[in-house]
Amino acid sequence: MYRLIYKSRSNSVITWEQVKEIMHSSDTHNRESGISGILLATSSHFLQVLEGPYEMVNETFMRISKDNCHSDIKLISFNAIDHRLFENWGMLGIGVFNLNAQLESELKAKYGEQDNGLKFPVEEWRALALINDINVISEQADTSL
Ligand SMILES: Cc1cc2nc3c(=O)[nH]c(=O)nc-3n(C[C@H](O)[C@H](O)[C@H](O)COP(=O)(O)O)c2cc1C
Repeated sequence: MYRLIYKSRSNSVITWEQVKEIMHSSDTHNRESGISGILLATSSHFLQVLEGPYEMVNETFMRISKDNCHSDIKLISFNAIDHRLFENWGMLGIGVFNLNAQLESELKAKYGEQDNGLKFPVEEWRALALINDINVISEQADTSL
């Protein structure tokens, strides 16, 4: 089992509709390929975690990286793992932008800002810490994401 994390810049302003569209269109492929993961979005950047078999994670990442919806793709990590962090989802999408103002401001204070939104880290441990913080904060705030 492998986990790959990357960050990219969107070629247009990201909306919650677009995140939902990506989640929806990824679902069938990801389930068929044994891929699970999470897709975080600000209005300008994506941070995605892909988990699954080696070949499938590779193939899916290569296809996503050719998508002209985004550019400036930065590979953060690609490691063998013992178990998944995201078992239950084809692809869980979370938008960290104005629809989620409280979450956004708490995370900006900790991780910094980029293009007026939350800055996604490029270090694996910080990316995983951010995802963990999102879970904790959203549970505390009882936000429906
Ligand atoms: C940020 C981002 C994340 C994406 N994540 C996935 C994904 O997890 N799984 C997937 O099958 N497609 C994902 N896509 C869509 C693919 O890039 C691609 O458009 C889609 O798989 C159709 O590919 P095809 O036209 O070669 O069939 C994502 C696209 C973007 C922009």
